[in-house]
Amino acid sequence: MIHNVKGMRDILPPSSAVWNEVEAAARRVFMRFNYSEIRTPILEETALFSRSVGEETDIVSKEMYTFEDRDGSSLTLRPENTASVLRAYIEHRLDQQPGLQKLYYVGPMFRRERPQKGRYRQFYQIGAEAIGSDSPAVDAEVIELVVAILQEVGINDFELLINSVGSKRSRARYNDALREKLREVAPRMCADCRRRAETNPLRVLDCKVPEDQPIIDGLPSILDFLDASDREHFRRVRDFLEDRAIAYTVKPRLVRGLDYYARTTFEITHGALGAQNAILGGGRYDGLAELLGAKAPAPGIGFSIGEDRLVMTVEEGKTVQAAPLHLYIAPMGDAALRHCAVLAGDIRKLNLSVEVGTDRKLKRMLELANKLQARFTLIVGDNEIVTQTYALKDMRSGEQETLSRQALMEQLAAQNRDREGL
Ligand code: HAM
Repeated sequence: MIHNVKGMRDILPPSSAVWNEVEAAARRVFMRFNYSEIRTPILEETALFSRSVGEETDIVSKEMYTFEDRDGSSLTLRPENTASVLRAYIEHRLDQQPGLQKLYYVGPMFRRERPQKGRYRQFYQIGAEAIGSDSPAVDAEVIELVVAILQEVGINDFELLINSVGSKRSRARYNDALREKLREVAPRMCADCRRRAETNPLRVLDCKVPEDQPIIDGLPSILDFLDASDREHFRRVRDFLEDRAIAYTVKPRLVRGLDYYARTTFEITHGALGAQNAILGGGRYDGLAELLGAKAPAPGIGFSIGEDRLVMTVEEGKTVQAAPLHLYIAPMGDAALRHCAVLAGDIRKLNLSVEVGTDRKLKRMLELANKLQARFTLIVGDNEIVTQTYALKDMRSGEQETLSRQALMEQLAAQNRDREGL
């Protein structure tokens, strides 16, 4: 038997309906904030990610699905989408469009991590990027947007963590200070930390090794290295959040595992998720567009929600019901089956879900109608075809009504208008 690839899941009904609901809710919120959808390819040139996410990050150094194409070029299954959106922005000269480019996406990402609850090798993100402004007002609006998505799907008990990793210059000074401190403590840390202490000291803060945590807690804080304009930017972001009554906690260690961040970074965690508790992460990436070859600066900020984790949180503590079946038709005999196929077509035009039985035994069809939790059942035999009257059974009340074809259609249409009743 062939199984699915480790860390890659099948999303089956009824859970798939929750996925669709979550995506529909996010799209509604994106519309309200004037975002439009962008779809980028799943495969990109490897250099796009190594350059933007950074060679020393876990993602690029350990987790990418990279392969050589038949023409010798190196391709990678996207581990994230911000780099791809920026590539598309530059490639299609979206900077020429009026106003900010506010783009959202929904789709699969690939990282070869160790699978566990909430962590998969193919996972899904719902994300957005606002490109073209370095205003702290945009940072706050992006955070407001992501909070609105969580609320739209009914999640209210989350924690918002924010930080500023400063602009390039502040970060360089911080990196120097870290490097110096790490010379003293890194020999007691894991192999990744020892290497990163020299190559990319900021990434030491991403380390998950438990023994290293007390040492990391003793490292200098980036907030002490922000220059005046970074501090002012961060202060204004917080003011804007407070105006909106969005509660947050400043977490100076939140440098996020990707190299492209500058100034604001944020994450939202949720208690129900266990060890992998980040539902989403994001931040500002001023300078990334230039790094990818843009002629003019294109400062931006965005986030990506881990959709797997979002769905898990939504499903937490409730049983997901199968999608309702509105009508089960049980035809008795071949002539009835032909008649019912056409009848079902007409009823489906009312936007109702209809299932036509194919079993020869009525009892078995009715049992199935029960199992499928059909709201109504219709039994059709030769007699019904001749008289054009139908016995519609309400499966909830058990009552049966004999209706002309027109009355049947009207009755079902009324049910459709009053979906609550279904
Ligand atoms: P990230 O923090 O790498 O950021 O990923 C964002 C979210 O994706 C995480 O908080 C988590 O919910 C989910 N996620 C990541 N890896 C996995 C996995 N293996 N399995 C399940 N869920 C996962 C980014 O990807 C940036 N592109 C965010 C961003 C957008 N920054 C600016 N714009």
